[in-house]
Amino acid sequence: MRIGVLTAGGDCPGLNAVIRSVVHRGVAAHGDEVIGFEDGFRGLLEGHVRPLDLDDVGGILALGGTILGSSRLERARLHEAVEGARQLTTAYGLDALIPIGGEGTLTAARMLSDAGMPVVGVPKTIDNDICGTDRTFGFDTAVTVATEAIDRLKTTAESHQRVMVVEVMGRHAGWIALESGMAGGAHGICVPERPFDPADLVAMVTERFSRRKKFAVVCVAEGAHPAEGTMAYGRGAVDQFGHERFFGIGNRLAAELESRLGTEARPVILGHVQRGGVPTPYDRVLATRFGWHAVEAAHAGAFGTMTALRGTGIERVPLAEAVAELKRVPPDRMREAESVF
Ligand code: F6P
Repeated sequence: MRIGVLTAGGDCPGLNAVIRSVVHRGVAAHGDEVIGFEDGFRGLLEGHVRPLDLDDVGGILALGGTILGSSRLERARLHEAVEGARQLTTAYGLDALIPIGGEGTLTAARMLSDAGMPVVGVPKTIDNDICGTDRTFGFDTAVTVATEAIDRLKTTAESHQRVMVVEVMGRHAGWIALESGMAGGAHGICVPERPFDPADLVAMVTERFSRRKKFAVVCVAEGAHPAEGTMAYGRGAVDQFGHERFFGIGNRLAAELESRLGTEARPVILGHVQRGGVPTPYDRVLATRFGWHAVEAAHAGAFGTMTALRGTGIERVPLAEAVAELKRVPPDRMREAESVF
């Protein structure tokens, strides 16, 4: 079998573990030929392709990023790109294409599959917001990084009697904020799924300070937003010293809390540090299993599917199910988190 593999969208710890696993399972177990497209669908469209053999994937299991490189597909040019990819998949003589990516990549994969291409998707994102799978690899690493940051911020917050607002990734779903907030024992968690009222956070901090717990940590997802009309500081607002310094929600919320409480508040934007570096053992294992099962799905002719973790097993779910909607944090998970604030 001739298998093409590519990594697309934002990078994610564990991508190399999938590539390695696809090559091992394909080449060593089935005698397949595996080729890698560089920089996502761009490599497929522009002919940047290279063979992948066992030697090429030696030593990459614990390596962050992706040896193939990645790029994002422009939404506006999705149909055009998919049509080009469809023609080239045939031209390359591929028996299977394994795109590894998030919602955008899997949407393109589904469109290719609908056009009759032999596609098996592998879900990846640190945001854990892909439907149909209990987990995506990369998420555990991101939560581990964010949790360590919260642990560290607590000690400096306490020393200086400050409020720390930690902004983590999660544009549309708050899984990283939820789980790192819980694991780190944050005193407030804000997610995109539920608009927050800064007054609740002010009440929480005031109550803690009244108990001589003179610090607090709030974990906020980058996509979280205040309920309509509850927050004074908008994007690019001017602070009490006349400085324009607020852009993301972490900065805005820290400024809002500081001005309402009269207590020092500091924003900490974790950003891409959550996505870089070595994957955790959990992510390496999940990624390896996904790679193994993607090759098996290709050999079984189970195209139009995506590998998915369901309970403890790896299953094949239709790509259509995976991209139907994003997996968001349900209210009961927030209630559980709040019960230990
Ligand atoms: O991979 C998803 C994600 O991590 C989001 O949480 C975040 O908004 C986005 O990537 C940012 O990625 P980039 O800076 O590469 O566009």
